[in-house]
Amino acid sequence: LLSQTLRNRLIIPNWTEFCGQMTTIYNECATISDGKVATYIPQLARVNPNIWGMSICTIDGQRFSLGDSNTPFCVQSVSKAFNYAIVSSDVGSDKVHQYVGHEPSGRLFNEICLDGNGKPHNPMINAGAIIMTSLIRNDLDMADRFEFVLNEYKKMAGGEFIGFNNATFVSERATADRNYALSYYMKENKCFPPGTRALRDELDLYFQLCSVETTCESAAVMAATLANGGVCPLTDEVCINSQPCRDVLSLMYSCGMYDFSGKFAFQVGLPAKSGVSGVMIVVVPNLMGIALFSPPLDKMGNSCKGVAFCKKLIEKFNFHNY
Ligand code: DON
Repeated sequence: LLSQTLRNRLIIPNWTEFCGQMTTIYNECATISDGKVATYIPQLARVNPNIWGMSICTIDGQRFSLGDSNTPFCVQSVSKAFNYAIVSSDVGSDKVHQYVGHEPSGRLFNEICLDGNGKPHNPMINAGAIIMTSLIRNDLDMADRFEFVLNEYKKMAGGEFIGFNNATFVSERATADRNYALSYYMKENKCFPPGTRALRDELDLYFQLCSVETTCESAAVMAATLANGGVCPLTDEVCINSQPCRDVLSLMYSCGMYDFSGKFAFQVGLPAKSGVSGVMIVVVPNLMGIALFSPPLDKMGNSCKGVAFCKKLIEKFNFHNY
């Protein structure tokens, strides 16, 4: 980074000006008071709704953060994007897509439904994500499977903060009727790959990965790894193979924002994934990763401030794919 700086070859050369514009957008979004925090578990209901964090990491490792960028939160459904990329890197895209489709479902994220081929529509909704979980190193025991994924997250985050919120995990597991119903429905329809454990174990792993903690700072590095073809910009380590990296961005683009994905693709034009904690990661391919965190959610389940930030970003910069 230093030699690039000295040679004035940074991917965002006018960095100070850029950061100034990001600060303006961040401050404009800070005044938004719409939305409601998720209340289906007490650990989410109790979160301070005023927390507002933003962090950027470019593919050459420039960093910029504002607000509560070091506050830990659970990744929740953002894990679905990372898990798909990790599994796809591990076992290959062909194997993964024997069990999960590529299409937006047009349904709620936790709806009990399969596509015309009897598979979950995509890996970004609960059905597809639970199938992805069952493909995570099912040759290992449960503890090692969790550790495997955690280590992959840490690699993507360049060694920065990755934690685990056990209270969230226990709460998720205790309120899991829908995910159990969904899983039994998939079991009945023979959706699971050979080697799948008891559904209780697979769902434990799914909830454990929803309960992994990051901060905006570390999530921005993970997003930047996706922006950088799967190579962590802080360590130069290959975390995700190039094809799965392209694949996960394609699926984030079409399916990453729940039932708002089409409009988000239309308005913002960038791959993104949101989670019920109020986190959002946004990837500007070949440029940077952005992590946003603000707990109040809109009716679609996406962070109000997060979505507003992205729209304003696109008004100022030509990052929209088209
Ligand atoms: O499976 C659930 O109900 C939640 N823990 C999923 C989290 C989430 O962000 C919703 N996403 N698709």
